[in-house]
Amino acid sequence: MRLLCALGEIYGAKRLIPVKSCHVSGVSYKTIGDMGLEFLRQMVEEGASFTVKTTVNPCGIDLEDWEKIGFPREFAKKQLEIVDCFRAMGVSRSYSCTPYLIGNRPRPGEHVAWSESSAITFANSILGARTNREGGPSALASAIIGKTPYYGLHIAENREPTHMVSVKCKVENDLKVSLLGYAVGRKLGQAIPYIGKVRLTQDLLKALAASMASSSSISMFYAEGSYEAKKIGEKKLKKLEKLEVDDHTLRKTFEELSIQQEASTICLGCPHLSLNELKQICKVAAGHRGERRLLCFTSYQTFLKAEKTGLVRKIQKIGGTIVKDTCMVVSPLTEIGVDSIETNSCKASYYAPLLSGVKVKLNSLEDIFS
Ligand code: F3S
Repeated sequence: MRLLCALGEIYGAKRLIPVKSCHVSGVSYKTIGDMGLEFLRQMVEEGASFTVKTTVNPCGIDLEDWEKIGFPREFAKKQLEIVDCFRAMGVSRSYSCTPYLIGNRPRPGEHVAWSESSAITFANSILGARTNREGGPSALASAIIGKTPYYGLHIAENREPTHMVSVKCKVENDLKVSLLGYAVGRKLGQAIPYIGKVRLTQDLLKALAASMASSSSISMFYAEGSYEAKKIGEKKLKKLEKLEVDDHTLRKTFEELSIQQEASTICLGCPHLSLNELKQICKVAAGHRGERRLLCFTSYQTFLKAEKTGLVRKIQKIGGTIVKDTCMVVSPLTEIGVDSIETNSCKASYYAPLLSGVKVKLNSLEDIFS
């Protein structure tokens, strides 16, 4: 409560408001280390438990198959202690950055307290939910107290678009969408952009949200056809400051983020793969014969659905592995023998070198397997 009140004072909130759900980041031993584990242990010892629906971000290992995949025993031991702490506070197996695909999907207008920038941005922009960009500790505090300070994106007036982004080039595949998000974030830093004239599927909006939030502090955007975009009139749109993105911008962004050489491992699923994306992988990778290691990251829930529909078997048949509960950024990649990856995610391309020292080659899903 002290933490939430202090935040409220800093941001000028007059009161706390109840939240419908929380999503907590800072779960991998790789990112929170012994200090984080100690903090969580202390919480549990003092009897903390979550009072609202709460999901958590990916941890550092596949909770079932960590040994088979090769995660180091010492690391796994610490990670399992962290998982025990979250379990003690009331979290079920929801280690994913796509809570909205696994049962934590707020309705329009609902106030939530989420951390994980990609999920926050998706929730605000596509679902019409209201959350500030919480950090792990403040989302954890909200999960315990059931409230959050009322400021920022919880207030309707603060959710107005600030910039009109005109996209002057084709964004015909997953990589282009990810580059677009990263470039817009990089150019604007802090804003609420309206992405004009580009209609995207839910999976591509997920990619757009992740890359935009990774290069900026943007926590909300408007996209054609989204719940929030429908409320904005033409007159308002005309008055917005303009930003143009063209092929040149995307090429420059690509050059900044991607190596030119071949990468030894294909990593997909930043953000975590949806069932539909797993299907797509099976389709485009049908000719893959395990020439390179293929790791597909997703949530446990999506894995279960994929198992039922035969997708897990298909991925295994082409030499791939579905890795659950963790991701290519917060798992100790180099310790499972990965030194370079090929992926379609600009967010991974930004963070994986920073956190693991691996090299990243960017490519669209289709071109990775062509
Ligand atoms: Fe999710 Fe990990 Fe990417 S948390 S958005 S897969 S960095």
